Amino acid sequence: MIIFKTTENLREYLKDKPASQGVVGFVPTMGALHRGHLSLVNLCRQQNTLTVVSIFVNPLQFNQKSDFDNYPSTIEKDMEMLIGAGVDVLFLPSEKEMYPDENKKVTYDLGYLDQILEGAQRPGHFQGVARVVDLLLQIVQPDNLYLGQKDFQQIKVIQRMIKLKGHHTKVVEAPLVREESGLAMSSRNERLSGTGRKKAAIIYKNLKTIKEEINEFPFSSLRKKAIDDLRKNGFKVDYIELATQKDLKLLNDFDNKIPSRVLVAAWIESVRLIDNIPIP
Ligand code: PAF
Repeated sequence: MIIFKTTENLREYLKDKPASQGVVGFVPTMGALHRGHLSLVNLCRQQNTLTVVSIFVNPLQFNQKSDFDNYPSTIEKDMEMLIGAGVDVLFLPSEKEMYPDENKKVTYDLGYLDQILEGAQRPGHFQGVARVVDLLLQIVQPDNLYLGQKDFQQIKVIQRMIKLKGHHTKVVEAPLVREESGLAMSSRNERLSGTGRKKAAIIYKNLKTIKEEINEFPFSSLRKKAIDDLRKNGFKVDYIELATQKDLKLLNDFDNKIPSRVLVAAWIESVRLIDNIPIP
């Protein structure tokens, strides 16, 4: 695995790469890697001749400084994992490298995506995500970009940014990976205590119940039941919503003809967790 810390050197390398490495796949990450990231890397390796991964904890996408300060960092372990997974190139830029001053002040017309769910709860978050991924795509210019469905809304935001900016990159979505308990894999799980981690699995249990019962009961009553259960178990719930799978339009109730998703964000032990499940 070759490691690049500067944009210039990475650009130079990618420009001169051998013809045998014609199809470039890219997995952007913020490190603290887990099996969810590895599933993206594996998919990327199967579908491309060159796999590029980036690790950059992007300050622009944190709407709370404490979340940024507490974001787990396990860089040595991450690098071992990426070497073991057969990654060709790791891009490891500093903040200065990613954001020389003029790079910061750009906004994107993300439309309603910026105003619902994560957009409503975390002002500025998706602008930060769009900015860093736009810059990374300009540098790496991959054919394929790999994103996990745990951050379902993020996929829609990045697809919109790609369209707005005319990047020639195809987004490949990979299914969410869960721990044995059902808890969605996330770097933030590292911040939970043993008890917190066990409790966090209750989020998925509630999503499954909603999925099982959605043809029988109105979504509003299933949501209320889930919120009550989560609160009883010590969670603070930001939202549980039903939305269309294709363009993430919020729905009041489930319509069998429209592929949908239930999305949730909830706090436990001061850690904010998100999850979602396809319906049906
Ligand atoms: O999903 C993430 O880890 C981040 O939002 C991403 C896409 C790497 C951008 O910083």
